[in-house]
Amino acid sequence: MSQILTIADLKDLARRRVPKMFFDYADSGAWTESTYRANEEDFQKIKFRQRVLVDMDNRSLASTMIGEKVSMPVALAPTGMTGMQHADGEMLAAQAAQEFGVPFTLSTMSICSIEDVASATTKPFWFQLYVLRDKDFVFNLIDRAKAAKCSALVLTLDLQILGQRHKDIRNGLSAPPRLTLKNIVDMAIRPRWCAAMAGTKRRTFRNIVGHAKGVGDMASLASWTSEQFDPHLSWNDVAWIKERWGGKLILKGILDKEDALMAVKTGADAIIVSNHGGRQLDGASSSIMALEEIADAVGDTIEVHMDGGIRSGQDVLKALCLGAKGTYIGRPFLYGLGALGKEGVTKALEIIRKEMDITLALCGKRLVTDMGKDQLRR
Ligand SMILES: Cc1cc2nc3c(=O)[nH]c(=O)nc-3n(C[C@H](O)[C@H](O)[C@H](O)COP(=O)(O)O)c2cc1C
Repeated sequence: MSQILTIADLKDLARRRVPKMFFDYADSGAWTESTYRANEEDFQKIKFRQRVLVDMDNRSLASTMIGEKVSMPVALAPTGMTGMQHADGEMLAAQAAQEFGVPFTLSTMSICSIEDVASATTKPFWFQLYVLRDKDFVFNLIDRAKAAKCSALVLTLDLQILGQRHKDIRNGLSAPPRLTLKNIVDMAIRPRWCAAMAGTKRRTFRNIVGHAKGVGDMASLASWTSEQFDPHLSWNDVAWIKERWGGKLILKGILDKEDALMAVKTGADAIIVSNHGGRQLDGASSSIMALEEIADAVGDTIEVHMDGGIRSGQDVLKALCLGAKGTYIGRPFLYGLGALGKEGVTKALEIIRKEMDITLALCGKRLVTDMGKDQLRR
């Protein structure tokens, strides 16, 4: 690889360095992947107004998300099995985010545990919660996130049942990978990944193993996880979670304005307009196309964030123009991590920051917080 200038460059390098099973896990969507593709493609339909001869000195990308200062309004999204893109992946990504001044969100389905990430960082991170059937386990997770001083709980609403990703089934995805001949060959040609993985003890779901009743090893973990997503979840559950948590609450996975209005009633601090990166309902609208209607419907009653398909600083600014106060990136930081470890996560953030800064200036704005609908050409 000569120069890394774009998120796509990081993706190319990650494809070479991360075993196929885990690279595919990141780079896939549900079924035909039409929503996954639309998330990226629909950004291209939105155009900026170019303005000239405006004083562009002293620009700033600084903003806030749920009242927390951010160096730019781009958080790292919760992603499962991040510690399989690179050894200790969640700890490295959290450190990179902390140094950059943006929030890191740890997934329930992470490899490194809440406690691992807390020990690797000095500032609060956010924790993403899946509400599973085993409520004792869920209570315990909330309490562990509190004990680790997480400053926000991100409650994911769009995974009551699991969407299907064909690649994961074909690859026989598991963490750690099963030692079939195919997997051994695939890993052997990626010595960098193997060496780093050999040097860590973190190779399975450490938020779960040893914490959920009856889950002590891989076999029990696989059967536990497959039964745990809870189809009974309802809006009433948000109330007890909010109460038990007692801190800032963000509701993730809203794609419809009726649901957004329900979310406002819960008293949550923010919603994330999201279709889970196109990994759940294939055929759903892209996040960027759903954003404006939702932002208009809720107005100032709740903070609106969005994720899905952001691959550049321009994409971030388009989301801000259409009503998002903050955004998240999933795959862009995973590609960075798989390509270059912690340095790659920083690189992904730097690429996006530079693109945001230049785009802001060419739009004739100095402050990222000034980006609004008037900046788009319609
Ligand atoms: C590999 C992968 C794993 C994910 N795991 C989770 C998860 O555990 N919890 C969750 O709420 N969202 C999860 N998501 C969804 C992300 O939080 C986010 O909504 C999505 O990645 C945004 O789209 P983008 O990847 O195009 O930026 C995952 C996404 C990816 C790509």
